[in-house]
Amino acid sequence: MKQNREIKSDIYYVGVNDRQKRLFEQMWPLPYGVSYNSYLIVDEMIALVDTVDVCFFERYLASIKKIIGDKPINYLIINHMEPDHSGAIRLVRQAYPDIIIVGNKQTFGMVEGFYGISGDRYEVKHGDFLSLGKHTLRFLLTPMVHWPETMMTFDERNGVLFSGDAFGSYGTLDGGVIDHNMNVEHFRDEMIRYYSTIVGKYGSPVQAALQKLKEVDIKMICSTHGPVWEDQLDEIIALYDRMSRYDTDEGVVIAYGSMYGHTEEMAEAVAESVSAEGIRNVVIYDVSKTSSSYILMDIFKYKGLIIGCPTYCNQIYPDIESLLSKISVREIKSHYFGYFGSFTWAGAAVKRIGEWAEKSKMEIVGNPVEMKQAIRDVTLEQCYALGKAMADRLKKDRK
Ligand code: FEO
Repeated sequence: MKQNREIKSDIYYVGVNDRQKRLFEQMWPLPYGVSYNSYLIVDEMIALVDTVDVCFFERYLASIKKIIGDKPINYLIINHMEPDHSGAIRLVRQAYPDIIIVGNKQTFGMVEGFYGISGDRYEVKHGDFLSLGKHTLRFLLTPMVHWPETMMTFDERNGVLFSGDAFGSYGTLDGGVIDHNMNVEHFRDEMIRYYSTIVGKYGSPVQAALQKLKEVDIKMICSTHGPVWEDQLDEIIALYDRMSRYDTDEGVVIAYGSMYGHTEEMAEAVAESVSAEGIRNVVIYDVSKTSSSYILMDIFKYKGLIIGCPTYCNQIYPDIESLLSKISVREIKSHYFGYFGSFTWAGAAVKRIGEWAEKSKMEIVGNPVEMKQAIRDVTLEQCYALGKAMADRLKKDRK
C-alpha cells in the first residue's frame, strides 16, 4: 500500500484518532471525534514532537516503531502539556529511557507535577535552535496559546511549523492527513468551534503569537488536532487572525431559554424583524437543547448577539446564566448586544441580564423587552423594535 504518513521529507505523522470520547474536556461534544497529532522527525538524531492521550499509547508506539523500528528516539519535544498531548510522556519515557525532553522553563515543572519525571532535559528559550543533522529546529515561545508553557517548533529545512493547539480543529483524520488529500469542508466550522471553546479566551496571546510567526517562512502547519495545513495555509492563518481579533461577520445569534414556549415566541419575533430588515445570517438557539459550544462558535462568527430567558427562582434561567458566564470567560466584548425576558409574578431576568451586559462592555442595542406571562401585541411590537434596532446597527457598519 502506498503510505501517506510521510508528510514532508523525514517528517512522519504518528498521531491517533479518538472516536470514543463523547465530550472533549468533558464539556464539548465531538460529533466527528478528535485526533491527537504527534510527529516524528527522522534525521541523524530522531525527534518526537508531542505525544497523544495515554489511552492510545499502544497504537501510538506501534506507529512509531513501524517507521523507526528499534532505533532510539533522541528527543521528545513538548510544545504543550495539556494531557490530551502529554498523557503518554511517562510511557514514552519507559519505552525510550534515554530520551531527552525538550521544553521551556514552564514545561518542566508541569512534567514533574503531572508525571513525576525529572532528569535529562533540554531547556529552550524563544529563538533557540536544536540541530538534528540536516534539520534544524527553531523554538518559538507562544505562552497562553493555550497554557503558559505553550511553544511552537519550526523545522527550518522544510518550513514546517509544529503549532500545538493553534490552528487545531475537532474531527478525526479519516485516512488522509494533509488538507489536499481529504475533504476538509466540515473542519472550518470545527476549527472555529475548537477555537471558541479552547483558545477563545486568549485573543491577545494568539495575536502576539501570530506576530512571532512572521519571523519564519511557513510552508506547512502541523497542529496537535485536525488536518495538516498546506494548501489552505493562508486561509487558516487569516481565520486565526480574525478570530483572535474578535472580528466577525454581519449576522445575529439569538440564544434563548424557554420552559413553556412563551419566551421562545419573543425570540421568533425578534428574529423575524432582524430578517425583515435585510440581515441574512440569523441563527436561533434554544440553550437547553444545543451545546453551548455551537452557540459560542456562532458568536465568534457574528457581530450581533441577542439573549433572552424567563426569570427562574428570582434569577436568570440557569442555562442562560451558564452561557453568559462562558461568554464572559472568553472576554467577548466587541459585539452588539440586545436582550429580552419574561416573568410570571416578579421580574428579575431582564434586570440581571442588563447588569451582566453593562459589565461585558458590549454595545447595547435597542430597548430590552420584558414580558409578563404571555405574548401580546404590545410585546410583539417591542420585539420587532428590538430586532430592527439590531439590524439597523449592523447595517450602519456596511461599507
Ligand atoms: Fe489540545 Fe490545550 O490541548
